[in-house]
Amino acid sequence: MKLKITGAISAVIILFIASCQSEESIEFRRYYSSGALVYQTHCQNCHGINGEGLSALIPPLTDSIYLKNNKTALACYIKLGLNRPITIKGRTFDDAMPAAELSPVEIARVLTYIGNSFGNKLNTINEQAVQADLAKCE
Ligand code: HEC
Repeated sequence: MKLKITGAISAVIILFIASCQSEESIEFRRYYSSGALVYQTHCQNCHGINGEGLSALIPPLTDSIYLKNNKTALACYIKLGLNRPITIKGRTFDDAMPAAELSPVEIARVLTYIGNSFGNKLNTINEQAVQADLAKCE
């Protein structure tokens, strides 16, 4: 009897811990999978199916150091567009990226997607983080 109760309590504890961990990964998976769709619709034409970019015109999204160093500015790049010389993987790009008509949550999804694809590992970039970053656009 005592053993059964201890067993039941441990089961509850294990379930509790498991559900805590998976809430984060559920959020991640939700952002990531819907971000893939945003990417296909709004970004892939230029940046390519594997984020490889296009010759000297469109930079690749595979420079994980650039993305990491500019993590909190990425939302503004998407929202307002980008038009200045940037160096990606040692190459300079200077074409313009147009502003995207996306809501903050869509920006969060697509950033979670590119931030965790093509060799990048930025974890979840959620809507709250994007809202905070957008408030600081220059
Ligand atoms: C019309 C083509 C075009 C589209 C569509 C486009 N981009 Fe870009 N993107 C560019 C160009 C060109 C640059 C470089 C801009 C510069 O040098 O100022 C760039 C730069 C970037 C950068 C910073 C540099 C790098 O390679 O990491 C990121 C991140 C980025 N784009 C993500 C996106 C995302 C996400 C989308 C979809 C929401 C998107 N882009 C849609 C053309 C495009």
